[in-house]
Amino acid sequence: MRSPGAKSSTDLWTLHKHDARELNALLRRHASRTEFVTATITSPPYGGLKDYGAAGQIGFGQSYEDYLRDMETVFRQVHEHTTADGSLWLIADTYVADGGTAPRPLMPVPFDLAKAAEAAGFTLRDVIIWQKDRTLPWSNGTRLRNAFEYVLLLTKGPEPKYRLDRLREHSSLKEWWVRFPERYSPKGKAPSNVWSIPIPLQGSWGNGELDHSCPLPAELVRRLVLLSSDPGDVVLDPFAGSGVVLAVAEHLERQALGCEIVERHVEEFERMIRPEILARDNGSEENGNGSGNGASAELLIKLRMLKLPVVLLRAAAKLPRPISWPLAVVVLPKPSAGGESYGAARLCFCLTTKSAAEQRRARRALQELAARSPASKFGIEAEIEVIGEAELPRVMSGRRIYAYRNGATSRAQGPFPHRELADELAAAGEKAIPPVLSPLFVDVTPRPEEAIAKRR
Ligand SMILES: C[S@@+](CC[C@H](N)C(=O)[O-])C[C@H]1O[C@@H](n2cnc3c(N)ncnc32)[C@H](O)[C@@H]1O
Repeated sequence: MRSPGAKSSTDLWTLHKHDARELNALLRRHASRTEFVTATITSPPYGGLKDYGAAGQIGFGQSYEDYLRDMETVFRQVHEHTTADGSLWLIADTYVADGGTAPRPLMPVPFDLAKAAEAAGFTLRDVIIWQKDRTLPWSNGTRLRNAFEYVLLLTKGPEPKYRLDRLREHSSLKEWWVRFPERYSPKGKAPSNVWSIPIPLQGSWGNGELDHSCPLPAELVRRLVLLSSDPGDVVLDPFAGSGVVLAVAEHLERQALGCEIVERHVEEFERMIRPEILARDNGSEENGNGSGNGASAELLIKLRMLKLPVVLLRAAAKLPRPISWPLAVVVLPKPSAGGESYGAARLCFCLTTKSAAEQRRARRALQELAARSPASKFGIEAEIEVIGEAELPRVMSGRRIYAYRNGATSRAQGPFPHRELADELAAAGEKAIPPVLSPLFVDVTPRPEEAIAKRR
């Protein structure tokens, strides 16, 4: 939770009653640098659709051409003050033109705005669909009930700030990542370009007296701020309305400024929006999963470590000259040497053969397979060891050992006392995939209740 602290009207980092066409006059007050805005996040007026009731407003009462010309004027000034790694996010919607002769055309406002921004020097890089969930319950002529808006990403340079890891998701992956942990980054899954975020309910601000008709949801703004800026960076909204963009950016420790032509919104921002958003407790860099992010990363790495020997043995089974087949494989995590990998593990293949030459040959073959795809894709530094049966107790000593049978490396059995493991291995016999034994515990496959109780 952050304390609002008062802002004075001479403070640049606030919402100003100001015409966006005169943005330079405001931004030039930042004396030290011309290019200082890292992310501009804004939902401009939608052409002539809405009357905001202020003299000098852009959109309402203007021709569509004049509207786009004014927007280009604003974008040019934004571009001038944007850093080389900066972005412009436009949140906009289409609308059906009013009046005139039939048929009434659909106005492609988002893409006309993108063209105006491109004329100002930006490059269109992505389109996100913001699914709003709550919509007006009617359709309109030849138009279906409108349930989404466009979120356009434009950038100034070729390499904008784009902090995808902050938005990675861990939910709804389970079925796939359990079986194929190597296909999912332990950091999480990249979000798709369809975002389902409800629009704020009428009355969800303070005592419900907020006067603005279309405040953006804080969660939408939060994602854009996290993606395209770092703490300390400057976030701008030239059509700030209620000022949600500024408040969320400040909450995430960015410096925020903006302008708005309707005086009432500027007053409401200081009195209601800013204090209320700063008082929320989600102003962190974490994604929506909070600390669950780390836990899931840990789980994916464990799953990768346990599956790796299975993948190696499947590849070994196809070698023209088969290796002596192991009785079991022990997976022991160890500290990583750092670098690109997600973790490190000793993989001890326990062979029944007593031939040192055969043990050496098996080790070399497994090392070669570990260096090749698909094993190399696991991102695990694998130290391959080949041990004899007699060495098994020493390798496992002092550890609680779980068993993973028949290649089901997401379902732990045990822990087993070491003396019972001998019976366990004997029972497993010469299975295609020998048991994987490890102090790592993973159990993410649904299983009968009694088996879970046994584990406890
Ligand atoms: C779609 S709304 C923005 C809503 C805002 N994103 C929010 O979360 O509340 C567009 C805003 O642009 C403002 N506006 C219109 N013409 C303007 C101008 N020339 N300069 C600054 N603001 C203007 C309108 O008053 C309106 O509040």
